[in-house]
Amino acid sequence: MDNLIDQKVFTKLGFEHLEAVEIVNRLDTLLCNYQIFFHKLQNYHWNVVGGEFFDLHDITQEMYEKGLVNIDEIAERIRVFGKVPEYRMSEYLKKSEIEETSHDLSSEYMTLNLISDIGTLTSFIIETSHTANSKGDLGTAHMMNKLIQEFETYHWKLSSWTNKKYK
Ligand SMILES: [Fe+2]
Repeated sequence: MDNLIDQKVFTKLGFEHLEAVEIVNRLDTLLCNYQIFFHKLQNYHWNVVGGEFFDLHDITQEMYEKGLVNIDEIAERIRVFGKVPEYRMSEYLKKSEIEETSHDLSSEYMTLNLISDIGTLTSFIIETSHTANSKGDLGTAHMMNKLIQEFETYHWKLSSWTNKKYK
């Protein structure tokens, strides 16, 4: 007769270990990419020069202030599952698809680069949302739904600004 303890499926918040790992891996990938994006926003906020200074200086501040809150929520969601969110800068750089850039860039390049990075971030947000929904993880899915809306709005604002300026 099989040992009943061996057959028992242990869950936390209703999720089996492997389900939680899959969700957490998605969240952690998003966290690593968002951290690089966050620091890029500060780079552009500090170092933009030229006639568009105030436009980019202001929107990058708005985005990194929201980013600080969003990153905290993503990391704390990982803690809800009992896992440790990535906290090492060296690992952020290794695991992030979004890459660092230099400081001496035109405002046009900065804006197009942010639009491109938002596309990368939204793809990770959608993947995380799909994984969460497939596991019945409404909490993470709700968080992703809020994030996607926020990034889509910034994508529209930045795209509109470049069209006006450069087309
Ligand atoms: Fe500032």
